[in-house]
Amino acid sequence: MATVTLINNETGEKFDFDLIECTRGPKAVDFSKLFEKTGIFSYDPGYGSTAGCQSTISYINGQEGQLLYKGMPIQDIVDKYSFTDVAKLLITGEAPKNKDESVEFELELRHRSFLNERLINILSAFPDSAHPMANLSSAVAALSTFHYDYRDPDNRDEYQVMARRIIAKIPTLVAFSYRHSIGAPFIYPDISRGYVENFLYMLRAYPGNRLKYTKDGETEITPLEVEALDKIFTLHADHGQNASTTTVRNVASTGVHPYAALSAGINALWGPSHGGANEKVLDQLREIGDVKNVSKFIERVKDKSDPFRLMGFGHRVYKSYDPRAKAIKNLKNELNKKGIKMDARLSEIAEALEEVALSDEYFIKRGLYPNVDFYSGIILTALKIPVSLFTPIFVIGRMPGWSAQLIEHLKNPHARITRPRQVYVGK
Ligand code: SDX
Repeated sequence: MATVTLINNETGEKFDFDLIECTRGPKAVDFSKLFEKTGIFSYDPGYGSTAGCQSTISYINGQEGQLLYKGMPIQDIVDKYSFTDVAKLLITGEAPKNKDESVEFELELRHRSFLNERLINILSAFPDSAHPMANLSSAVAALSTFHYDYRDPDNRDEYQVMARRIIAKIPTLVAFSYRHSIGAPFIYPDISRGYVENFLYMLRAYPGNRLKYTKDGETEITPLEVEALDKIFTLHADHGQNASTTTVRNVASTGVHPYAALSAGINALWGPSHGGANEKVLDQLREIGDVKNVSKFIERVKDKSDPFRLMGFGHRVYKSYDPRAKAIKNLKNELNKKGIKMDARLSEIAEALEEVALSDEYFIKRGLYPNVDFYSGIILTALKIPVSLFTPIFVIGRMPGWSAQLIEHLKNPHARITRPRQVYVGK
């Protein structure tokens, strides 16, 4: 195995460390015995250069703007698979081999999409004004009190049941949170509808389980709307060891109930530096208000005395165009042509922001490009999804990835409790 040598110039001591082989991307120095060997720590706040695990689920090449799920480029995934196919790929390691397998998995999710009535009572207790991300993380943590069959160490399939159950229920939890916030009755899942259509149905249907009724009859949810949201979910499904996935792994490392770990992941995603950015992008585009104001806002970004940041821009790993942002921007324009009308003003402002930013030295020098959150809100708005549900939509998309990462951690016999050290600078 190749090694690297660390020389302590104060003492002249030399220490060899193994280089861990990888199938793609940078190698890693195995520093797991650094302190034992050298008596010193490594220091990497934010873990920008530190791998905390080995994983086979998704791979990001930040320089090339490449994202792979199980070795397949994200654009091929979006073109070839439905979101529920991608969920199966991520949690089992294999995509459905044929239509029957695809339908069988998706039907299982439909039958698991219902909520225990006592969990619905918990959701009903929240104030109307509660942010749905708070409802979601609470409800997912509460779900652990209804399902305690996960920790059968001899039955690894329990993890599959655990994963399929939460992937199935999360759209219902999001829809019920929204209906509660507007004082509307809950619309229970309709198992005759597919995963994505059912979510839109639970959001939109009127009491009596009818969708909007017009002179030419019930306005069904269009296949194009379903296709659009299906692709949005797929583009959010997994993304390496981001802050919320790392949170899921870290919390799971103490041996807690998987749903407690997933609830922690929802809380981490909520932040505006992470999944909460998609909501802030819409606020920002509305604050900019007109293309003629774009340059003024770009100047504010560069003014260090102004805390203003361009939401939906920049990324810890991508120092090039986020392939998901590219796919979402193309989807936006394609849907607009096919009749799902985007808000022209917001879309024009967003594209002008991108154009000005990508030609500005400040952004180029720092490798700041649009990320997954920059254009998604424009499509979600066109799908009549309220801004308050933008980050919950991210939760639905990311749940298969979190579940897959959780299972990978739980199945790793060498996984240890997360316990970083510190550089003490106190008295
Ligand atoms: C997601 O990690 C993932 O994979 C996450 C995600 C996933 O799928 O799980 O991809 C989803 O969270 C996408 C990111 C969503 N967040 C935003 O859009 C919020 C705006 N972006 C930033 O806050 C920021 O870019 C982060 C948080 C995304 C990344 O932060 P880093 O890597 O810690 O970068 P940094 O703060 O060290 O910034 C480096 C420089 C700084 O300038 P200097 O101090 O060098 O002068 O770039 C500047 C920053 O001020 N900068 C920005 C900026 N982002 C970074 N300046 C203006 N606008 C921005 N958005």
